[in-house]
Amino acid sequence: MIKIAPSLLSCDFSKLDEEIKDVEEGLADLLHLDVMDGHFVPNITFGPVIVKAIRKLTKLPLDVHLMITEPDKYARDFIENGADNITFHIEVKKNFLELIGKIKSLGCRAGISLNPETPIERLDAFLDKIDVVLVMSVNPGFGGQNFIEQSYQKIGYLKKLKQKRNLNFEIAVDGGVNISNAPKLIEAGVDILIAGTTIFNAKNRKNTINSLRMLQ
Ligand code: DX5
Ligand code: ZN
Repeated sequence: MIKIAPSLLSCDFSKLDEEIKDVEEGLADLLHLDVMDGHFVPNITFGPVIVKAIRKLTKLPLDVHLMITEPDKYARDFIENGADNITFHIEVKKNFLELIGKIKSLGCRAGISLNPETPIERLDAFLDKIDVVLVMSVNPGFGGQNFIEQSYQKIGYLKKLKQKRNLNFEIAVDGGVNISNAPKLIEAGVDILIAGTTIFNAKNRKNTINSLRMLQ
C-alpha cells in the first residue's frame, strides 16, 4: 500500500496543531519535516527543538529530511527529539557507511536522498544498507516547484535494482507531487509520496490524500 507523507513546509505554522490533526484525520501515513541549514540549500527552516514540539503533537512517524551539510553532527539530536526516519543527502561529503550505522544504532530508520542533477549510480554501494531512497523531483530548498520529469527514470532504475538484487528499501519521491503525476509515480514504483503544496493548499486534505493514493 502506498504511503502518503504530507510535507509540513507548506502548512500554516501559526496553527501547527490543527494542521497536523487535519492530515492525521485525512489518514496520512507519516509527516515529512524539511530541515534546511542555509548552506546545503538556500533556505533555512527549523531544527531539533521544533521536531521535539511536533513529536508531542502526533503519534505519526516523523520523517526528517536533512537538507544540511553536516548530517553526521546533528543526526543524534534529531533522533533523540523524535525522528523515526532520518534522510540525508548523498551530495554532502561524509562517511556514509558510518552515518548509516550511527542512525540505525540509535533505533532510527536511515534514508538517503539525491538531487535531480545527481547520477543515481552514486547510491549503488548503499542500497543494501538503507531503508529509504528519497528521489528529489525538484531542486531542494522550496515548496511549490514544478515536478522534474526525468525523475521517473530514476524511480524506474531503483525499482529494477530492487527486484534484481532483492533489496528492501522503500522509494520516496519529493517535490512537485500532485494528483496528476501520482498515478504515474505509483506505477513507476514509488512507495512513499511526499507532498506539501498539493495537500496543504487543498480545501479538503482528506480527499486529496485519498486521491493521491488513488482510492477515489
Ligand atoms: C523541498 C522539500 C519538499 C517540499 C515539497 O526542498 O524537500 O519536501 O516540501 O513541497 P511541494 O510538494 O510543494 O513540492
Ligand atoms: Zn523534503
